[in-house]
Amino acid sequence: MSTSDKPWGGRFGTSTAQLMERFNASIGFDCRLMEVDIAGSCAYARTLTRAGLLTADECAQIIDGLEKVRDEMREPSYEFADHLEDIHMAVETRLTELIGPVGGKLHTGRSRNDQVNLDERLYLRTAIAATVGRIRQLQQVLVDFAADHTETILPGYTHLQQAQPILLAHYALSLFWALDRDAQRLTDAADRADVLPLGSGALAGSAFPLDRSFMAQELGFSRVSPNSLDAVSDRDYFLEALSALSITIIHLSRYCEDIILWSSAEFGFVELDDAYSTGSSMMPQKKNPDSLELVRGKSGRIVGGLVSLLMTMKGLGLTYGKDLQEDKEPVFDAFDTIDDCLDVFTAAWATMKVNVDRMESSIDAGALATDLADYLVRKGVPFRESHHIIGQIVRSILDEKRLLTDLTAEDLHNFDPHFEADAVECLDLRQSLAARNLPGGTGPEAIQDQLKAARVVLTDADISPH
Ligand code: ARG
Repeated sequence: MSTSDKPWGGRFGTSTAQLMERFNASIGFDCRLMEVDIAGSCAYARTLTRAGLLTADECAQIIDGLEKVRDEMREPSYEFADHLEDIHMAVETRLTELIGPVGGKLHTGRSRNDQVNLDERLYLRTAIAATVGRIRQLQQVLVDFAADHTETILPGYTHLQQAQPILLAHYALSLFWALDRDAQRLTDAADRADVLPLGSGALAGSAFPLDRSFMAQELGFSRVSPNSLDAVSDRDYFLEALSALSITIIHLSRYCEDIILWSSAEFGFVELDDAYSTGSSMMPQKKNPDSLELVRGKSGRIVGGLVSLLMTMKGLGLTYGKDLQEDKEPVFDAFDTIDDCLDVFTAAWATMKVNVDRMESSIDAGALATDLADYLVRKGVPFRESHHIIGQIVRSILDEKRLLTDLTAEDLHNFDPHFEADAVECLDLRQSLAARNLPGGTGPEAIQDQLKAARVVLTDADISPH
């Protein structure tokens, strides 16, 4: 296209270099904004009409034309060509081809700067709702899984060393709560993005008497932006979304790491379903947890997207600079990636087999040492002292190659006279768990309460508008 054919071509003598045309074009990726761009333009045409800038007939022609453009562009075979620069110009150019010069009235008082900002906020609204929906599905799977494993005991770890016995339900619900914060963060971000930027023009506000409250209402926004300079410069909504998605993928990544480890021969706690594993091209015996490795690996892309947009924004003075065109790809990629990751993770988790016996039998007797120390505390021994006493017991039985659970009441009494006949009772896994029924603990009763609370969260989420 020669420059004089471009919507902004009036002041240009020579045409854009082909290299520049390709470099400048965002149409290859912002074509994803087509639907929201057209929805925004329809609302804008109605606003212009209310302001007396379009007749009712012109408005009808424009809206009718925009719907035709949308139908054409929905066709998978439709080609978005580079010379059209971006989705905003592609829609306007095609509209004018279809309905003639009246199409040129649509951009009155509007700039692509407030237009792109609007499109992005509309995209984000839908993208966040879809991702939050997936998070809720995963939370549901975790609740069902936890309900099936309120008696499954496994070693809990710190420093990747066995620490204390825990219930598998407690472990599954730990991810439930992390995901709940993720859903809240995304919902908060959507609430803050719920601001209409249209009417800000290029930067200084529109010179026409546009009814911004009407536009906001038409497009389902709660508020209008209070400052046009801030409105066209702002990309906080994308930064917040990327940061929320980064935290979510980091959560998934950490749980992937555990399950990958648990599915090794050495642990043997779980086995992933064949449908979510793959084989080795060389070693016939291998079954690899690729699904979870990929989720763990893809965290790099999403966090990279956050860093990329932060860097794009860093040196950018006010207001709009073409730098901002670089904002879309990391965000689109982050949502596509997280949605895939959530689907795969949910399916892999829902189908994995748990080796209940292996989990329980792998608990080292030493994991009950704290319970023994707590026993002495109940007999009046200061905790620091009892910690020391148990440490010495552990040391001496290690030398004798005996386990903590091999000790009799008499053995214990010989170590410290505060130990009485009932002391051996605390060397029992279920006893250890039952001692932890305070709110938030891994005790079986506390787990029932936790499950109840988790279910309430899901019911409330179901009835809330998000
Ligand atoms: N394609 C542009 C972007 O994504 C649209 C806004 C262009 N504005 C401008 N003043 N050139 O940011």
